[in-house]
Amino acid sequence: MTARRTALITGGAGCLGRAIAVALHDAGHDVIVTYHSSESATRDWINEEAAKGRKFDMYKVDVADFDSCQALVRRLEDDGRQIDILVNNAGITRDASLRKMSAENWAEVMHSNLDSMFNMTQPLCGPMADRGWGRIVNISSVNGSKGAFGQTNYAASKAGIHGFTKSLALELAKKGVTVNTVSPGYLATRMVQAVPEEVLNEKILPQIPLGRLGQPEEIGALVAFICSDAAGFMTGSNIAMNGGQHMY
Ligand code: CAA
Repeated sequence: MTARRTALITGGAGCLGRAIAVALHDAGHDVIVTYHSSESATRDWINEEAAKGRKFDMYKVDVADFDSCQALVRRLEDDGRQIDILVNNAGITRDASLRKMSAENWAEVMHSNLDSMFNMTQPLCGPMADRGWGRIVNISSVNGSKGAFGQTNYAASKAGIHGFTKSLALELAKKGVTVNTVSPGYLATRMVQAVPEEVLNEKILPQIPLGRLGQPEEIGALVAFICSDAAGFMTGSNIAMNGGQHMY
């Protein structure tokens, strides 16, 4: 039985953010989600879940921006919210082969996917360590390990996440705070739906031995386990769930 904690999930507007939020809620936690530009999409799903008896709070933040994250942490403190579980889920793609990639698309992905790890985790991990309990889960990708055509920026950022995880896991191991990476494969989400249909059907799906996209809820269940007291011995891990597309 895991005690009731407060969880913060970035990237709450997306399909995966919602599934993780629901899984942590159903594991008995109070759940806060953040959004950046998609306030109404986030509010819509929160209202749908409210009709099913689930309650979520939402806060605005730009995880790519240090000052915005500092302001979020101050607002959380003002509202008396202490964060025990942080799921760094927000991320973007700006796919293009490298020879066609703009410096802007490179930088945007690095800021949103990798700088965000520092921006969100640095202010929240100290209080977790001081209280002697915490869970930090960083969402990477199968493509951080195996690479993907058109994703030099994304794969570099997602590979960087696990280096961050391993170092922070070492720093916090004695403080009761675990830090892990989850590397999902291709999921049935809006991000994957944006991949050109013929690329998805002809190049990607044939590489997945299970022959289907993953469901965001499958990742949500994994994250809920990592955030439980039962997973206290797991730290510095990179847990893959990708339908067999890439085996470690
Ligand atoms: N594998 C091998 N060859 C590929 C390829 C692939 N996956 N994708 C494109 N190509 C080939 C094309 O067939 C074409 O070949 P020819 O020149 O011989 O005709 C060539 O590459 C085209 O190259 P370009 O540089 O002109 O590429 P483009 O401008 O047509 O667009 C792309 C390339 C933007 C990368 C497009 O293919 C694409 O969007 N691919 C999907 C990338 C992808 O997998 N993104 C994942 C998003 S989901 C996600 O990221 C979630 C997660 O964590 C898993």
